[in-house]
Amino acid sequence: MIEYLVLYQSESGNTKKIAATIFSHLPGTSKDLIDITTDKTIPEARVYFIGFCVHRGSCSMAVSDFLSGLSGKQIALFGTCGMGDSPEYYSAIEYSANAWIESDNDYLGAFICQGKMPHRVRQKYEALRTDKNASQINLCIRNFDAALTHPDSLDLEHAKVFVEKILRKIKAED
Ligand SMILES: Cc1cc2nc3c(=O)[nH]c(=O)nc-3n(C[C@H](O)[C@H](O)[C@H](O)COP(=O)(O)O)c2cc1C
Repeated sequence: MIEYLVLYQSESGNTKKIAATIFSHLPGTSKDLIDITTDKTIPEARVYFIGFCVHRGSCSMAVSDFLSGLSGKQIALFGTCGMGDSPEYYSAIEYSANAWIESDNDYLGAFICQGKMPHRVRQKYEALRTDKNASQINLCIRNFDAALTHPDSLDLEHAKVFVEKILRKIKAED
């Protein structure tokens, strides 16, 4: 059994960036970084960092199935979503994913940040804009444009701080 496993699902690469940052800040060599869509056998670990891209407000079934199969593990979550700077929304995402974790595990917390979205999303907003909904749609377009640079270096720094916090938590519990 290895010490740390960073397992992630990322369709356009944003969550993969966070996964790589988390992996590089985990100590020692007893660790692995794996895309959940791999054909490789997923090794058993003591501590899991499980990441996902947010689709329709939550993680995919591949991730929720994996989470619900874990027992007696220490588990931290991370994810990226299109919405920027919204602690309430990030909490809702966290709760919708950590609900899959059985209570015999030790849930350690979550890190969520913004990630750029495909251009078709902006085109959809533009197509939907009318005189009536323009202010709402313009907000969505502003959020889309702000997302284009994310995850940025500050997001990666925050991911590193998250790892340090989780490691301290694990140490305190040992
Ligand atoms: C089909 C689809 C659904 C999405 N649903 C949401 C959503 O519900 N909430 C949100 O904030 N972002 C949503 N997004 C944006 C993604 O969560 C965001 O771009 C994320 O960083 C993608 O991560 P990835 O590059 O690791 O795949 C969606 C994107 C796609 C393509």
